[in-house]
Amino acid sequence: MGEDYRALNLANWNERAPAHAASPGYGLQRFRDDPAHLSTVVRYDLPRLGDIGGLRGLHLQCHIGTDTLSLHRLGARMSGLDFSAPALAEARALAESVGAAIDYRQADAYQAVEEFGPGSFDLVFTGIGALCWLPDIARWGRLVADLLAPGGRLFLREGHPALWAIDDRREDHLLAAEYPYFETEEPLLYEEEGTYVATDVEFVHNRSASWNHGIGEILSALLDAGLRLTQFVEHRSVPWEALPGAMTQDADGEWWLAERTERLPLSYTLQAVKG
Ligand SMILES: C[S@@+](CC[C@H](N)C(=O)[O-])C[C@H]1O[C@@H](n2cnc3c(N)ncnc32)[C@H](O)[C@@H]1O
Repeated sequence: MGEDYRALNLANWNERAPAHAASPGYGLQRFRDDPAHLSTVVRYDLPRLGDIGGLRGLHLQCHIGTDTLSLHRLGARMSGLDFSAPALAEARALAESVGAAIDYRQADAYQAVEEFGPGSFDLVFTGIGALCWLPDIARWGRLVADLLAPGGRLFLREGHPALWAIDDRREDHLLAAEYPYFETEEPLLYEEEGTYVATDVEFVHNRSASWNHGIGEILSALLDAGLRLTQFVEHRSVPWEALPGAMTQDADGEWWLAERTERLPLSYTLQAVKG
């Protein structure tokens, strides 16, 4: 496993990044119009994030930098890492247009320690469609632990692995477990013409390779790497339309099951501390 899945996913993300930057879903202009504007993802977790003023922060798999810029606006000294050059071009252009100093680096997530050095961060932030691109969650847990300085914390909000396992193409909207819940050796190869925000762009690179990681596997990855779990909350909403046709959106931009939301956790927030 190695180059093939990376190349497939890189082509997919490279093509989608400019379309995301132009989409109303990511709403880049709102960041330019209002210096206090925050992404819906960061706003959702504000009470759990607490005061991050002055922290050395890293956004792993930062995409076009809307969450990274939001964390910068909350006072953290932010770096962002992504393997997609077009995504980072959008992130840099956005930061520059609002005068935000953010250190963006292009590298594979697993190379983050080589890129920034061990123990460089007080805060590692990641999530919302990030972990599913990484084949080995135990290796990711060790990576996070290595990036953090003693006392530093991981802040993760992510789609729930129980949601990732659900068939998202059923016309009857039954919640049927179709895809793996646990981590598998081989990726799930998926073909999707569009993307998760509205766009008129027609894409060519529509295949992707992803992996699910069960909650136990994620928690074990962090505990085995020596981190201490400080928060784990499951949510009934998620910030994208994960099950098209079966969800409704609230005023904050979060998507909920249209019926009986108690059936399935859709996302979670997890925090863990080093030392
Ligand atoms: C859905 S975004 C997550 C960020 C955030 N939720 C957002 O919407 O801005 C996923 C990001 O992961 C990046 N990515 C995927 N595989 C990666 C890898 N192996 N190393 C570094 N970045 C990767 C993609 O380029 C993409 O920008």
